[in-house]
Amino acid sequence: MTTSTTSQLEVCESLLREHRQMEALLAELEQVVTGLNNSVPEELEGIRAIMTKIEPEMNTHFACEEQVLFPAVSPYHPMVLMEAEHEELIELRQDFLMLLGQPSPDAEGLAKLQAIGARFISDMLDHIGREDAGIFPTCERALSDNEKQAVIDGMAHLRAQAEKLPTPMISRPERSFEALQVDLISPAQRAVFSERLLDTNDLEIKHLVIQAGQSIPAHWAPKQGTLICLSGTGHFNANALECELKPGTTVVMTPRLLHSIQAETDCHLLMLLR
Ligand SMILES: [Fe+2]
Ligand SMILES: [Fe+2]
Repeated sequence: MTTSTTSQLEVCESLLREHRQMEALLAELEQVVTGLNNSVPEELEGIRAIMTKIEPEMNTHFACEEQVLFPAVSPYHPMVLMEAEHEELIELRQDFLMLLGQPSPDAEGLAKLQAIGARFISDMLDHIGREDAGIFPTCERALSDNEKQAVIDGMAHLRAQAEKLPTPMISRPERSFEALQVDLISPAQRAVFSERLLDTNDLEIKHLVIQAGQSIPAHWAPKQGTLICLSGTGHFNANALECELKPGTTVVMTPRLLHSIQAETDCHLLMLLR
């Protein structure tokens, strides 16, 4: 781990400054949100005006942390939790902005607006406090001077870009899952059967069935391959070496490894290529 105990550089200085500015904006917001007792258009307009300042500040600040600072520190300390908090804060902000978009909310709408606004303010303050007290000092200790300078330059670049074009809200790839099922019960009908279960840019998964007594002759794939035996027994051969295949055997191959497979009993294999 890199340490910089004698470092004079303070990588989080600009972020701390932004925290103080954000706290001032949040104090302003708190005053108008708590003082809101009817939907007078001017009062709502006042809240919208403060949110117009908070939104771009938040986007650029979160981008500096998530795209520049956290990736630099992540080899030493995972920063996943802070990103999850950013996500929740952005969601809260968007809910608050949606409620603010209503032209003249009724009493129930106003109460909801105040509740979401109060939660947004307190969660933002908690997050800032956690970064000030724990995350930023950790970053100062973990990064070398060179790493700090790269982060400082990266954040300056991002802020300069934001001057020209506001930083967009951070968008993350959709998180999903897919359950795949192979048939391990039916007896093998052909000498060799192959079905593609998944084919994406990063990963290809094939289900291979080799009938008892049959084999796949020597061949190779251009990608890195992982062969997992799901059921059956047989042998895997490569580089003049033989490896027994049984349920649970996992063979990890480099690209272009010439190999062959023989099945003693019906063999169900998963082949992962990436
Ligand atoms: Fe943050
Ligand atoms: Fe922050």
